[in-house]
Amino acid sequence: MFMLKPPITRLGGKSRLRNEIIEMIPEHTCYCELFFGAGWVYFGKEPSKVEVINDIDKELINLFRMIKYHAPEIERMLEYEFSGRDIFEEYKNYTVECMTEIHRAVRFLYLISQSFAGKGGNYGYGTNTRPSPHIFYKGVLGDIKERLRNTYVENLSFEKILDKYDRDYTFFFCDPPYFETAGYGFEFEEKEHLLLRDKLKNIKGKFLLTINDHEKTREWYKEFNFKNIEVGYSVSNKNSGRRKYKELIVTNY
Ligand SMILES: C[S@@+](CC[C@H](N)C(=O)[O-])C[C@H]1O[C@@H](n2cnc3c(N)ncnc32)[C@H](O)[C@@H]1O
Repeated sequence: MFMLKPPITRLGGKSRLRNEIIEMIPEHTCYCELFFGAGWVYFGKEPSKVEVINDIDKELINLFRMIKYHAPEIERMLEYEFSGRDIFEEYKNYTVECMTEIHRAVRFLYLISQSFAGKGGNYGYGTNTRPSPHIFYKGVLGDIKERLRNTYVENLSFEKILDKYDRDYTFFFCDPPYFETAGYGFEFEEKEHLLLRDKLKNIKGKFLLTINDHEKTREWYKEFNFKNIEVGYSVSNKNSGRRKYKELIVTNY
């Protein structure tokens, strides 16, 4: 099977774990990702009959919506761009409310791909790596657009998606922000983790959740099935080199 690469990077992206996760996906009719991010698992697996992707980040979801509807225009706008600190700062300082949705998607792609660690905050330059050029080529978004064609794209908080899509034939892939690690600018503390756990406890469908291995996360999900894994991540650009992190894969099947 041909696995697609997401057009963006995202903190906590499941690039290294995706094969393992995909192998564990049970039979289902409706595939629903609650915390989409860069969508490594979605872009790697076979399409399901019905698919839903959701993230609370407005700019991120706008990007995928715009790729779905206006990929050629995004590519046209980026074709003559290049990596530059001034351009980066200009994009960063735009008032998004005054931009068109297409232009906002271009801005997001530019900021993520030309920044340190894909965080969009600081211009990413290097002395032994080249600027990331992939967004400046025509045609790069074509496959992504095709993949998104039959997918519902949502921009809500996870609990609303669970309410809307839960059926006995639904499978939820849940990759929430890690407990006690730097976030994405959206509150995700113990309270949100417990809400997620309580909701997952009572669903009709199946779920697979990935979370950092922590005394508390183990306790929260103790009634479910666990798989322990070790994976190398660079969680922040301040880390020198990659560190090994312990993760849990939790399922209710
Ligand atoms: C660990 S990342 C997901 C990474 C993704 N699986 C990948 O492969 O790139 C977690 C995502 O949850 C999103 N998020 C944070 N709070 C949320 C909420 N309440 N509801 C839905 N999404 C949320 C963040 O914007 C972030 O993109």
